Amino acid sequence: MRIERELEGLRAATGAWRAAGRRIALVPTMGALHAGHLALVAEARRRAEIVITSIFVNPLQFLPHEDLARYPRDEAGDLEKLRAAGCDLAWMPTPAVMYPPGAATVVEPAGPAEGWEGDERPGHFRGVATVCTKLFMMTGADVAVFGEKDWQQLQVIRRVVADLHLPLEIVGLPTVRDADGLALSSRNQRLSPEQRARAAALPRRLRAVAKALAEGRPAAPTLAEAREGLAADGFGVDYLALVVPHTLKPWTEGQHGEARLLATARLGEVRLLDNLPVFLRG
Ligand code: PAJ
Repeated sequence: MRIERELEGLRAATGAWRAAGRRIALVPTMGALHAGHLALVAEARRRAEIVITSIFVNPLQFLPHEDLARYPRDEAGDLEKLRAAGCDLAWMPTPAVMYPPGAATVVEPAGPAEGWEGDERPGHFRGVATVCTKLFMMTGADVAVFGEKDWQQLQVIRRVVADLHLPLEIVGLPTVRDADGLALSSRNQRLSPEQRARAAALPRRLRAVAKALAEGRPAAPTLAEAREGLAADGFGVDYLALVVPHTLKPWTEGQHGEARLLATARLGEVRLLDNLPVFLRG
C-alpha cells in the first residue's frame, strides 16, 4: 500500500492509474478506523480497481469549542487495518497541504445541511463539504463511499456533487453496528463501561419508534414518548425527529412512504448519532 502525504505523490499515483484506465474509489475518513470504516473500504474494493482511503482530521469541520486536539488518532493501527483490507493508497495530507496559507475558498451547502446537525454545529457542514470537494478533486475519484451512519452528511455530499456537477458517483452504505445494536463510532471509545452498556438504549428506542410508526401510530406522540424514554435512560436528547430522507425537511403528519428517523443524544460528554429508515404506509 502506498502512503502519500504530498499532492505531487498522490497525483503521480492517480495519474498513472488513470492513464492505465483504472477506476478509482475513494473512502474519506478522519482515521481511528473501525469495522464501519472497513466496510466502506470493502465496498470500494467491489466498485473499483483502485481504492484510496483518506485520513485527515479536518479542522474546518470542528467548532471552536469542540476539541480537535482530543480527536482519537492511531496512524500505525489505521495503516495496518487499511493494508489488511486491500487498500491501494492511504492519502494523509497535512493541514498545510489541505489548506495552504491564504486559502480563502469554501463550499457552503444549504438545503439538506439546514437543521439538525446544521443547527447543533453551525459551520460543520461547510467544513465537511469543503474538505470532501477538495478530496474529490485531489484524487479524481470515479466513486466515493460514505456511511449512512452520518445520514445528513451523506445527503449534503449528494447535494454538493449534484450542484457542482462533480464527475463522481456517491455510494451510501448501511450502518455497521455492535452486537447490542450500537452504531460503531470512534466516539464510542470515550464512553465509560457503564455508559457503553447504557448506550444500546438509543438504537433500541429507535427501532421501537420505527416499528410503531410502520404500524400506523401517529408520529408526534410516539416521538415525544421516545424522547422522554431516552431522558429517563440518562441521555441528553439534542433531537429525535422524523424527516424526508433526501431533503432532511421535517416529516409532516399524514404523509406516507419512506422517511428517516434521526437522533442525536448525549451520554456525559459523548454525542451519539444514529438513524433508521422508516416506512409509513398510507
Ligand atoms: P469519519 O467520522 O471518520 O467517518 C468516515 C466515514 O465512515 C463516513 O462516511 C461515515 O459515515 C462512515 N462511518 C462511520 N461509522 C460508521 C458505521 N458504524 N457504519 C458505516 N459507516 C460508518 O465522516 C467523517 O469522518 C468526516 O466528516 C469526513 C466525511 C471524512 C470529512 O472530513
